Amino acid sequence: MSIEQQITRQLEEVNHFAITDAASLEDFRLRFISKKGDLSDLFDLFKQVPNEQKKQVGQLLNALKAAAENKFRASKEQIEAHAENNEISDFDVSLPTVPNQFGALHPLTIVGQEVMDIFTKMGFTLSEGPEIETDWNNFSALNFADNHPARDMQDTFFVDKNPDILLRTHTSSVQIRTMTEQKPPIRILSVGRVFRNETISARAHCMFHQIEGLYVNTKVSFAELKQTLLHFAKELFGHKVQIRMRPSYFPFTEPSAEVDVSCSLCHSKGCNVCKYTGWLEICGAGMVHPNVLKNCGIDPMQYTGFAFGMGIERIVMLKYNIKDLRLYTENDIRFLRQFKIS
Ligand code: PHE
Repeated sequence: MSIEQQITRQLEEVNHFAITDAASLEDFRLRFISKKGDLSDLFDLFKQVPNEQKKQVGQLLNALKAAAENKFRASKEQIEAHAENNEISDFDVSLPTVPNQFGALHPLTIVGQEVMDIFTKMGFTLSEGPEIETDWNNFSALNFADNHPARDMQDTFFVDKNPDILLRTHTSSVQIRTMTEQKPPIRILSVGRVFRNETISARAHCMFHQIEGLYVNTKVSFAELKQTLLHFAKELFGHKVQIRMRPSYFPFTEPSAEVDVSCSLCHSKGCNVCKYTGWLEICGAGMVHPNVLKNCGIDPMQYTGFAFGMGIERIVMLKYNIKDLRLYTENDIRFLRQFKIS
């Protein structure tokens, strides 16, 4: 091969050499620029070129040298600029992909599902209603007197300054809807989000979830309510737990009670979760007030009913010893990951 042909071939190789990163830049330098590279071999050969050809071959050789040096300089600048911007790509496309992380169910979903399973096995059916409600379904039909403090702007979010339309403050509104539309026997579980105008803190939130139960039939008794809740508590917290009922007040139930379960964390010995009382409050309950049945077109002389309601956030707190309500909505992956069910 003549020296001219060798120069042309080298030029092609210089042009085609792919410089993508610092390593290939160095390969290029060793091959074409360094004193021991291919180009210096050509310069050695050049010494043997007859004098009359020297001018022409010399021009070709110099053009090749300039092309190699220009390419080297331009690529070097480019790679250095990228490195400064931290953009230099050391991405290896042949690496195996990072597997997608499996998500976890939210603890509210897990426990809500558990609670629903327990009651559906007892014959309760699920029922849902809208989050934007009328005053009638959320308050009046539930026997709240017109001046009841729970209607105060402090507790309730009203929609569009219309005092008759509001964000439901409890899921009891679904019970009104169902009792108005269906004839007894009624055995439903209403589940969903509720809203109260509270400042967000470790113990309060303006949005939370409730599960409420309602059973209306002939001869429904307080004993049945108690047995239903005892069965529920044993299923959820373990078979050793006991319940107790303390007298309480709700406008829509009479008599009304707060229901406590014996603390399963310390076996009622007293711990910081049960505040050394041995008991944890889990829900409100009572016999449906005759006025409520009447408001829904159900004859209170013929039918009786019981109702109970609990906050899912609170049940999850008790079950998993969670101290701050805000964790539920912060979406911190470190919190959520702990509830993976395998
Ligand atoms: N609706 C009540 C509340 O939100 C809970 C409750 C439901 C109490 C049914 C008694 C009976 O606090």
